[in-house]
Amino acid sequence: MFFKKKKNEEFNYHVLDKDNIPQHIAFIMDGNGRWAKKRKMPRTYGHHEGTKTIRDVALHCNKLGVKAMTVYAFSTENFARPEQEVQYIFKLPKDFFELYMKELIENNVKICTIGHLEMAPKETQDIINSAIDNTKNNTGLKLCFAFIYGGRDEILEATKKLAMKVKAGELGVNEINETVFNDELMTKDLPEVDLMIRTSGEQRLSNFLLWQLAYAEFIFTDVLWPDFNENELDKAIWMYQNRDRRFGGLK
Ligand code: FPP
Repeated sequence: MFFKKKKNEEFNYHVLDKDNIPQHIAFIMDGNGRWAKKRKMPRTYGHHEGTKTIRDVALHCNKLGVKAMTVYAFSTENFARPEQEVQYIFKLPKDFFELYMKELIENNVKICTIGHLEMAPKETQDIINSAIDNTKNNTGLKLCFAFIYGGRDEILEATKKLAMKVKAGELGVNEINETVFNDELMTKDLPEVDLMIRTSGEQRLSNFLLWQLAYAEFIFTDVLWPDFNENELDKAIWMYQNRDRRFGGLK
């Protein structure tokens, strides 16, 4: 993968190290509204264009050998947005899977979700569940939609499940460790998150994967999500590969 040197950028031509591709990349897809506003279009247009980016980035991740990517599609806090925008976002999975399902299947992509899909309208649930079902035997990239998801909520849910097991006498308090806790999380079937990318210049986690991001590398880019693309992803992975990951130890 080659990058052209642009003025004031710290990298020249670089080849991605195929042996150091992040296993799981988490994306906070921010900036759809601002992207649309710049074009004097409604915010929803930005979300619509943002779904194309999901397709492009997913296929590129798959090609690079990334095992999983999780996209923050709707947070538990996003219900505070205007009703019309919320309704629009709930309709996006239909458009997305109608347009790209065939291609995702051909590329062996497996769809999954984390969050409270049961709180979405029935039609949205059906569309997403059928995408999960249609791709359940695929072995390529896991494309995980965080939908009606909140990190604190997930941690509380896991804690309650463990408390119930302790109460039922199935688990001792001293048996609770990171592995046991991890197995109660919605992400239990996904690999460790190595890299988190947030677009649009905002630098916060917004209640996303709070437990899972403990040792992830963070990359914040000013690029707005609809403009994020394969080159931007390569650049982010190159930056990741040039980070010194110590996991709390020394090198
Ligand atoms: C933030 O942009 C982005 C979102 C709230 C996510 C929108 C969701 C999608 C594109 C994915 C939909 C789901 C599927 C299954 C295809 P923003 O509105 O906060 O941007 P702003 O900060 O510029 O206002």
